[in-house]
Amino acid sequence: MIKISPSVLASDFSALGAESIRMEKSGADYLHLDVMDGRFVPNITFGAPVIKSIRNKTSLVFDVHLMIDEPLKYIEDFKKAGADIITFHAESSSPVGETVDKIVESGCKAGISIKPNTAAEVVFPYLDKLSMVLVMTVEPGFGGQSFMPETMEKIKTLRAEINRRGLDIDIQVDGGINEKTVEPAASAGANVFVAGSAVFGADDASAAISTLRSLAEKSFSF
Ligand code: DX5
Ligand code: ZN
Repeated sequence: MIKISPSVLASDFSALGAESIRMEKSGADYLHLDVMDGRFVPNITFGAPVIKSIRNKTSLVFDVHLMIDEPLKYIEDFKKAGADIITFHAESSSPVGETVDKIVESGCKAGISIKPNTAAEVVFPYLDKLSMVLVMTVEPGFGGQSFMPETMEKIKTLRAEINRRGLDIDIQVDGGINEKTVEPAASAGANVFVAGSAVFGADDASAAISTLRSLAEKSFSF
């Protein structure tokens, strides 16, 4: 099923609660929360306390994207803050299998993310325990970058493997998703679309979300 996950990185941080409510009213499925530590990526955003502060503002699914060096240490904190899905990077310093297990044990859905230069096969050993794989379509760290079409091959590889094993796993794309790039991503096999600039930068967030959704629905056929 197609899901749209607006990234708060492009929102008005001084009004994060109101921005979350606005996204829910605009028809978003998830709220994408980008956590950056200035180590795994060259940028710092926010952590669990900020996520906790908006948890009671909305019933949107909290889709937490950890771009941090030691995710294993903080899984419990993000669970307590109200995360529903926790995605961490395969390239981080934490052991991947143990981190997946910790997320699942906490009661959250687990996702693994891969950067543009990381092979899709890296996540294969963990697929049975995952709810989502996030294929980054830009280098993580900043909003407003251009979509990298060369990452589409990895989505095809992943979707083929997921189907071959008969699993029900979402493939998320993040970075440079807009009206032009949502179609190639959906036709490659992605079904969860993160969009920062394309939603928060639009005059009408509701129209932006429904356009992305309908374009994705037209192109996704798996
Ligand atoms: C980048 C973040 C993204 C970012 C996407 O590292 O993971 O979620 O907010 O922003 P746009 O949609 O503007 O490329
Ligand atoms: Zn993200």
